[in-house]
Amino acid sequence: MEKGVKRNSFSGSIGFVLAAAGSAVGLGNIWRFPYLAAKDGGGMFLVIYIILALTFGFTLLITEVAIGRRTKQSPLMAYGKLNKKWKGLGVITCLVPVIIMPYYCAIGGWVVKYLLAYLTGNGANAAQDGYFNSFISEQTEPIIMMLIFLCAVAFVVFRGVNKGIELFSKILMPILLIFVVIISIFSLTISHTDDSGVTRTGMQGLGIYIIPDFNGMTFQRFLTILLDAMGQLFFSLSVAMGIMIAYGSYVHDDANLKSSINQIEIFDTVVAFLAGIMIIPAVYTFAGTEGMGASGPGLMFVTMPKVFNAMGSIGNVIGCLFFAMVLFAALTSAISIMEAIVSSFMDKFHLSRSKATAIETVISIAAGLVVCLGYNALYFELPLPNGTMAQVLDIMDYVSNNILMSLVAIGTCILIGWIVKPKLIVDEVEKTGCKMGRKRLYTVMIKFIAPILLAVLFLKSLGL
Ligand code: PHE
Repeated sequence: MEKGVKRNSFSGSIGFVLAAAGSAVGLGNIWRFPYLAAKDGGGMFLVIYIILALTFGFTLLITEVAIGRRTKQSPLMAYGKLNKKWKGLGVITCLVPVIIMPYYCAIGGWVVKYLLAYLTGNGANAAQDGYFNSFISEQTEPIIMMLIFLCAVAFVVFRGVNKGIELFSKILMPILLIFVVIISIFSLTISHTDDSGVTRTGMQGLGIYIIPDFNGMTFQRFLTILLDAMGQLFFSLSVAMGIMIAYGSYVHDDANLKSSINQIEIFDTVVAFLAGIMIIPAVYTFAGTEGMGASGPGLMFVTMPKVFNAMGSIGNVIGCLFFAMVLFAALTSAISIMEAIVSSFMDKFHLSRSKATAIETVISIAAGLVVCLGYNALYFELPLPNGTMAQVLDIMDYVSNNILMSLVAIGTCILIGWIVKPKLIVDEVEKTGCKMGRKRLYTVMIKFIAPILLAVLFLKSLGL
């Protein structure tokens, strides 16, 4: 690197795998994957998702990590290093985490608030109608919670790749997995009789989640499932926002990229699958099929507290475990978002890590304030092309996820597939002597299939 500063690196492949898995496992695994699986024909969705993960997901993920390791540059600089004319793609890529960071921290703050409610034994309050809305419409508390979350993230990034990101991922990810397993087992053992005398059990809920439902299967429905699975996978693997390029640039040259990528995908998919086992049986048992329509904040902050409340005295304990687990998932994802930006600032402007972290913290606080106030002082509603009504947070989410990330991913496929050629990635993966395998598939994927699928997804999110 310039100025003789030695680039940080992960101490070994476990550190890299857990850090990248920490980025991949986030709110999406918990609040969207289970909902989509239940809506899209249970086992059908799961099978399609796994096939896509092994093909489309593998292609995107290995491409980004290999770009990072080859160029040893942050996302802002890496594309320009591959081809000077493509510098602009680096700028767009770096813009994505800059936009996502403030609203991810606002949501992280909501999780802190709920964890505190359960830790102080106030879970029953959180289950009251209107609790969530009155919390976010208040001016100061959501801001304080966001600041707590953001400071924790900045602290880890400030400590650097080894003593920060790697260390925290090595501690938090195993705990997260243990919590997910405990809650999943609990969720399968429950049963509940509602006021009308109907008894539902966790095992019945499991059936809804995993038994394939071919009812009313038409080509149109198949296409919807395919696109849902692809959109989810794309978001879940944290690609197209520079994170995997930044993390890839910290991977040792002798590490086996192929097996690391497989492990990251397995970790991410297992947690998403278990999140379904944790959530769907519990929601079905205590809230019935009507309760199952919720995803996103509605599921996490409205439906789940009601489910914990209906569990009786153990509900508060399960609620604690649940929100602690969600907090760990959100923290490790937010850390990766911030690292993509901080590493870019460091490389581009030759800043020290502490200065770059301080600058990004200030930017996130300023934009985060606007996000929080978007639910009260600055409230407005704007219709989006996909037909929903949006506040500040939703607009930032739409612009980053649906527009910019699609453009970055399509741009990456064109750059690698047609300009620098797939061989560059294959050589990077194979330079340690490991076989990449699926090479022909990789080439066809990156040149044709991935960009076409991504373009379809892009058009769909524009409402076309
Ligand atoms: N991959 C994360 C998830 O599945 C989300 C995420 C988005 C992480 C953006 C980092 C950046 O929830």
